[in-house]
Amino acid sequence: MAEAAAKAHVNIALVKYWGKRDERLNLPVNGSISMTLQQFYTVTRVRFNPSLAQDQLIINEEYASEEQRRRISAYLDRLRVAAKSSAYASVESSNYVPTGAGLASSASAFAALALAAAQALDLHYSPRELSRWARLGSGSAARSIYGGFVEWLRGSAPDGSDSYAVPLFDGGYWDVRVVVAIVGEGVKSVSSRDGMRRVVATSPFYEGWRQTVEADLARVREALQQRDMAKLGEAAEANALKMHATLLGASPPFIYWCGATIEVIRRIWDLRRQGVPAYVTIDAGPHVVVLCEKSGQAAVCEALSRIEGVAEVVSSELGPDAALVEL
Ligand code: DP6
Repeated sequence: MAEAAAKAHVNIALVKYWGKRDERLNLPVNGSISMTLQQFYTVTRVRFNPSLAQDQLIINEEYASEEQRRRISAYLDRLRVAAKSSAYASVESSNYVPTGAGLASSASAFAALALAAAQALDLHYSPRELSRWARLGSGSAARSIYGGFVEWLRGSAPDGSDSYAVPLFDGGYWDVRVVVAIVGEGVKSVSSRDGMRRVVATSPFYEGWRQTVEADLARVREALQQRDMAKLGEAAEANALKMHATLLGASPPFIYWCGATIEVIRRIWDLRRQGVPAYVTIDAGPHVVVLCEKSGQAAVCEALSRIEGVAEVVSSELGPDAALVEL
């Protein structure tokens, strides 16, 4: 029986991936830059077994929904073609994230799955090739192959061969901290996949996003090069809020935030006025991720934990590359 297990960490984008130019290959409209987080990750074990009648998927020790199982199965089909194999697999995945409240990430999940499944099928891929494979499962997963600060190159080839992530700086380059405020409950109403599709198709504000995102990427690259927290934070915060602004112009419009999301943003802006360099970013949900220096981490945690509607506050350092693990 061919088996392998891998661990991949969640990443949070500083310049967001928002919009696809090819849905089947998950090719993005724009490049993106992220940080990989130490404290949040997925561990996935894949076992190919010729006696199985179909693929099996267990997430956090429970059988996954049929919809999730089919998505993984369709993904494994592509790898089976590459490996000339016909065996089905049993996939067991565990998400190590603060709560069930929505930070479980398709990015860490597909990066871990790509790495474990490729190894189990004896496909000896380079990290670049694995990044492309992870991308096919979920765009943002392309970035979780690497630790530290990572850029996913947009590429221009129609077959996606030049759309993969590259490491910019490893986790030891700059000791920034990330503080996550978990707000709101339950499953989000519009997935990032559906949300970006609706925005691209209907929001007049998407054109503004497209026209400015290259400049955001350049500012973030420069800020990283200079280890300039104010430049990095301002660029990342503006990029995130701009992404969320495109939702308001969609038809029908939608919002990922809840009341506490806005309270957290305001509180971080207050802290900044008091001299603590801290900046927000938000993905396709209500939770707020705060970027700060090590010296500001305690003040940020303290401020966030006092806000009504913030259920949990969790800090993280930058994390490592995805890697195979022994189980
Ligand atoms: C807002 O990678 O989840 O988090 O490619 O359809 O699986 P699919 O989308 P996904 O989108 C992530 C969107 C985002 C921004 C980001 O992580 O860059």
